[in-house]
Amino acid sequence: TLNTNGSATFYGPLGENEAFVASDPSAVVQNSRRIIYLKDGDLAAIRASDCRIVNGQGEPVERPVVALKTDAADYSLGDYPHYMLKEIFEQPDVVQRIMTAAVSEDSTVILRAKRNSNRSGRFGTDPALDERLEGVGRIILIACGTSWHAALVAKRWFEEIAGVPTEVDIASEYRYRNPILSGDTLCVVISQSGETADTLEGLRRARASFVQALAFVNVETSTIARESDGAIPLLAGPEIGVASTKAYIAQLTNLFLFSINLARAKNRLSIDDAADWVRCFRDIGPAMTTALARRPDVVSIANRFGGSNNIIFLGRGYQVPTAMEAALKLKEISYIHATAYPAGEFKHGPIALIDIQTPTVAIIPNDSTFSRMASNVQEIKARKGPVILVTTDSAQDVEDLSPHIIRVPDVAEPLLPLLTIIPLQLFAYEVAVLRDCEVDRPRNLAKSVTVE
Ligand code: G6P
Repeated sequence: TLNTNGSATFYGPLGENEAFVASDPSAVVQNSRRIIYLKDGDLAAIRASDCRIVNGQGEPVERPVVALKTDAADYSLGDYPHYMLKEIFEQPDVVQRIMTAAVSEDSTVILRAKRNSNRSGRFGTDPALDERLEGVGRIILIACGTSWHAALVAKRWFEEIAGVPTEVDIASEYRYRNPILSGDTLCVVISQSGETADTLEGLRRARASFVQALAFVNVETSTIARESDGAIPLLAGPEIGVASTKAYIAQLTNLFLFSINLARAKNRLSIDDAADWVRCFRDIGPAMTTALARRPDVVSIANRFGGSNNIIFLGRGYQVPTAMEAALKLKEISYIHATAYPAGEFKHGPIALIDIQTPTVAIIPNDSTFSRMASNVQEIKARKGPVILVTTDSAQDVEDLSPHIIRVPDVAEPLLPLLTIIPLQLFAYEVAVLRDCEVDRPRNLAKSVTVE
């Protein structure tokens, strides 16, 4: 508890006579569940049982002690050898948890957003927030890393389902450019940690231009959540592995449900059509479980190609962000050089990389991109490049394209990014294990990047 003189005493089953300093609660949560968040400019003097805080002007201040709501199981490995694998396998439960929290029995989406005033708001039921969504004429999405890939998928949903023109910007670029913002622009910030320095500065920049900002964050108590006008908790549970997996799926799930909310508010979808989308989405969790059960197929492909020095990832449409996310996962944890391209752009340069030792992962679901992707695969085969196909169960004659095939169940094309990434997360994991890499703590990387 905090005393009036600005000192704080830590107590509790785990925090007796000790205090910890960290840039992210997940680093200390196994030691204490009681956290004091400092504001910019604050200085804290910490002793075993007491903490005094002064603000930037040197005046003693009180900062509240916040109790973290966590489940000990989130921090134990259980039977898994690595957190990353545990988190990959948790993904169907994450989708289910979000659906239970955000969708009513009649398939109406009620995403809960915390509002900056600390009042609880509800997108879809709070008239003020509904009105705000109705008036949104443009969206700018800002994020970094994996969260940026989620933003690239969301752009398509916001435009195709909700009809709202949407831009995506990497936060480190957005914060230094001069974006054209209008009163009807909504800034959507995506961050697992809620502490990424570039994303936070991007958010501050948008808010300084009087643009409303909505954050999708996994850590509800984070700076980004606190500084946004509204925050939607991702509900992924604590993510420990440095390479993000379940937070990505939680981002996609929440962003998809938000696009349905937005489409309703903008009168682009009838109640029935919105409910149909939600019913389609209910297939995702079980389909993910099926995709995960096919891990042995991924293991044999990892064994075959895990020694490569370079791997190329290609996709079209909804699968371009998947290709980028798959390449990022592989780079992060296996240190293999990987590049991702929209397949149509491949002929403009990267095709020169193809040789017998450079495998290409072609994401070729049985959807509107299939025949064009098949042509790309033929071009690679003609140049003797090995090809790994990630396709869907209904795809015919893919054996003629390559013997190396991983399949996932079919779902509606806009929802496929939630499935095609599953075997590719596993591929990165299996390759990293084969190469004896430190899966959960890859070299040179941090879970929360709180510096520029
Ligand atoms: C770091 C992590 C990445 C993550 C990125 C953005 O670089 O290693 O896995 O995607 O930051 O993090 P955020 O917490 O903002 O989603």
